[in-house]
Parts: sequence; C-alpha cells; structure tokens
Amino acid sequence: MKIRRMATLRTVDDLRKHCVALGIELPHDAELAAGPGAPLAQPIEMGARRIGNRFAVLPMEGWDGTTDGRPTEFVRRRWTHFGQSGAKLVWGGEAVAVRPDGRANPNQLMITAATVGGLAELRSLLVQAHVDAFGQADDLLIGVQLTHSGRFARPVDKQRLAPQILYHHPLLDAKFGVDDDHPLMSDDDISRLIEDFVGAAKLARQAGFDFVDVKHCHGYLGHEFLSAVDRPGRYGGSLENRTRFLREIVAGVRAEAPGLDIGVRLSAFDYIPFQPDPEAERQGAPTPWTGAYPYAFGGDGSGVGMDLAEPQAFLGILRDQGIRLVCVTAGSPYYNPHIQRPALFPPSDGYQPPEDPLVGVARQIAATAALKAAHPDLIVVGSGYSYLQDWLPRVAQAVVRLGMADSVGVGRMVLAYPEMPADVLAGRPLQRKRICRTFSDCTTAPRSGLISGCYPFDPYYKECPEAERLATVKAAL
Ligand SMILES: Cc1cc2nc3c(=O)[nH]c(=O)nc-3n(C[C@H](O)[C@H](O)[C@H](O)COP(=O)(O)O)c2cc1C
Repeated sequence: MKIRRMATLRTVDDLRKHCVALGIELPHDAELAAGPGAPLAQPIEMGARRIGNRFAVLPMEGWDGTTDGRPTEFVRRRWTHFGQSGAKLVWGGEAVAVRPDGRANPNQLMITAATVGGLAELRSLLVQAHVDAFGQADDLLIGVQLTHSGRFARPVDKQRLAPQILYHHPLLDAKFGVDDDHPLMSDDDISRLIEDFVGAAKLARQAGFDFVDVKHCHGYLGHEFLSAVDRPGRYGGSLENRTRFLREIVAGVRAEAPGLDIGVRLSAFDYIPFQPDPEAERQGAPTPWTGAYPYAFGGDGSGVGMDLAEPQAFLGILRDQGIRLVCVTAGSPYYNPHIQRPALFPPSDGYQPPEDPLVGVARQIAATAALKAAHPDLIVVGSGYSYLQDWLPRVAQAVVRLGMADSVGVGRMVLAYPEMPADVLAGRPLQRKRICRTFSDCTTAPRSGLISGCYPFDPYYKECPEAERLATVKAAL
C-alpha cells in the first residue's frame, strides 16, 4: 500500500484533499490561535480544581526503572520533560504496577511502601520543572496510572511471559503461548488484587498525586475484565459483572483514600488480533476467525468494526461512581498496534500498516467524540494524535473547539519533542526537526529488551550505547 507521508501535506488544502481521498473526516482549523483566548489555552473546571489548558501528557513507560521498581535517571528525565511540556494534565505518567506479579517487564515501576518515596520525588521533579518553565503549577493536575499487566505480565524475565488470565482466549492464548491448562485467576485472587489496588491508591495519595488511573486498556488485566464474556461467576458475563472489579476498587479507594480523584483510561474499542501477511509484504491482516467475534470490548462482532453501546454504558457506570476523568484509547500494542498508536513504520513485533495511519487517527477521534457527545459532563481526553505530526496542533484545536474532546493527549510526540504543547500555546513556530515521525523505535527497543525513548530525535538516546544495539536489532530485522 502506498501511504502519503504527512510531511508532504504542505497546505490545509492538501490535508483536506487527502482526507477526502481516504474517505475520512478529520477536524482541522486553518488558523492556529495563540494566547489566552486560544481554544487550547482554555481551562477545564473540575469541582474545586482547575486544569489550566487542553493538552494532556499520556502515560508512557520506558522499561527503565530499577528491578525493585524505583525510578532511575531515565525516568526522572522523562517526568521532568512532562513538566516542561506545558500540558496542564499529566495522565498517569506511566504504568505503575500495584504488585510484583503485575509488572509488564522487570524494570516497570511499582508502587509499594518501599518505592513510594521515589514516586513522590518524580511528581515533585515534574512540578518543579513546570514551575521553572511557566511560573506556577496551581492548575496542573497529575495522576499516576495503576496497573496489573494480566496476560502480558513479564515480571522477572523481559522475554518470558508469566500470564495471569481471567479466561482462556482462543486467539491470544495461542499467539502468546498460554497452555490450555494454565490456571485462571480465581474470584479470591481477584479480591486480593482489588485490595492491592486500594493500597496502591493510598500510597499514591501519600505521594501527592491528584488522581489514580485505574487502567482499563491495551489488553492488560483491567481491560481483559471487559471482554470476559465467557467467564462464570461474579467477574464475568454481564457488563455488571465485568465492571465489578472497577466498582470494588472505586469503593475501596473512596473509603481508604478519601479526597483522591479517580480516572479511567479505557480501550473504548478493540479489534481481533492482527498478524503480518507473508503473502502481502507483511501487511497486517485480521487473524482468521469464523462467526461473531465476542472478545473485542467495543467491537461490533466482525473483529474489525466498532459498536460503542457497551463503552457508552461503561462511561455511564463511571459517572454513577462519581468518576469524571476518562482517557480514551483503543486496542492493544501487543495484538493490534495500528488501531492504538498509528504509525508509518511498524514496531519490530508488528506488521506493515493495513490502512493509512491517518485512518486510525480519525477513528480514535471519532470514537472519542461519540463518547463525549453522550457524556458531556465527563472530562474526556483523546489519544493517538502523534501521527498527525505537523498537523497535530490544528487538529487538536479543532477537536477542542468543537467539543469533540476536552483535552488532547499527546504520547510519542512528547518523547521526541516535549515542548510542543508549550510552543503551540505560545504561538511559536514548531521545531520541525524534532517532530515525531512514528519510526516506532520507542516500541521496538523495549521489544528487544532495551530501554524506550526517542532514539531518532532525542540526542540523549541517539548517543547512548543502547542506540547501537537497537541499530543492530533493526538491521537484523
Ligand atoms: C513507548 C510507549 C510507552 C507507552 N506506555 C504506556 C503506558 O505505560 N500506559 C498507557 O496507558 N499507555 C502507554 N502507551 C500508549 C500511549 O499512552 C498512547 O496511547 C499512544 O502512544 C498513542 O498516542 P500518541 O499517538 O500520542 O503516541 C505507550 C506508548 C508508547 C509509544
């Protein structure tokens, strides 16, 4: 498939024509506003709190903590950049495991009595960096993302999964080597895990965070609950049962960490796992499946389509639980990365794009807008904008101006060019040489056991010893 590079779209007219050719609708403004009246500079009121503008930093881990779950210099540098970005909402920082067996890699951060000091320091560094750059941090809202990696846990060995599963998945079990007799987490195991989430939230409050994100995305355990349609018992089957995990955590947090806000990052739709097609230059294709596919939360049964009825009901449950903060994402980086983080160049364990990545960007924006339209009282953060590259600010402004999301979340772009939000808000021209071009090195590196970062554009990573190892890995591929 021939994909037109974003950098070749020079004018608003080029972008418009390209969208027409792709058959997508992508909101975008011809003129970008700056200064206090700009749509992206408007605050969001959240009860007594104020979020100072419409940019959010999305959570991004670096596979670079210590083996006992504490931050390293790499982590501290990343969180400092989050503070310097100018975004007034820091959605989660990065995935932090609530206990050892829930880590996605042996270098993932953990939140325990032993590590909480390190997390408090991360938060302080971020706040200080923000104050140094912008004068104050009163309108900065910072959360920490709490996770258990479920079937994608690799707590001890970077290359070996130690899955904790809720049900036997006919495709994912086979794809990731889960045996038929692998035990399921019992309801009692789940109750203990809920206690760990609540304990983690108490520690997060102690560390000074404003909110915890009870992660429900990307194929990790919280997300797996939502597709546990076959699981018998209290945590599977009906939507009520599939959201019991969340509701029990929320009740525990309210009782034991009063005053701490709660947010949820949700894969609002999912597809069947994709795989490279060797007959078609490794282009991604849906894994063959006969009949209706029931394991995609927010899917329409075809495996490659969306039905937001359940995600809409899920947001209603969040509202009933008194939760206002929602971050919308999609799919999973392990089995359908193109719907989650649209990229021109796939990660090493991925496949060539099955669609123009701009289609993936437009899909996430449209899904987010549909959810926001039905739940105007929620504060909805969107994701998946980095592929827009030079066009990110104009699309972000239009999305916010039209009320299609309250805040625009930025992920990979912040690794490459942390100050992009600040430059946009100040009306400075973009630093084009720092714009993320979605080479996916930030995903390929950890897939090969290396730390994550922006190897193409951040000199810190470009010049570190891992860069050479990454080049060797990529050459071998
Ligand atoms: C290196 C890397 C690490 C990530 N880590 C997390 C994470 O810890 N938690 C999470 O919810 N999403 C994580 N994501 C997904 C991003 O938050 C985001 O949804 C995705 O990159 C799409 O947004 P973007 O187009 O702005 O990059 C990660 C993405 C990347 C590239």
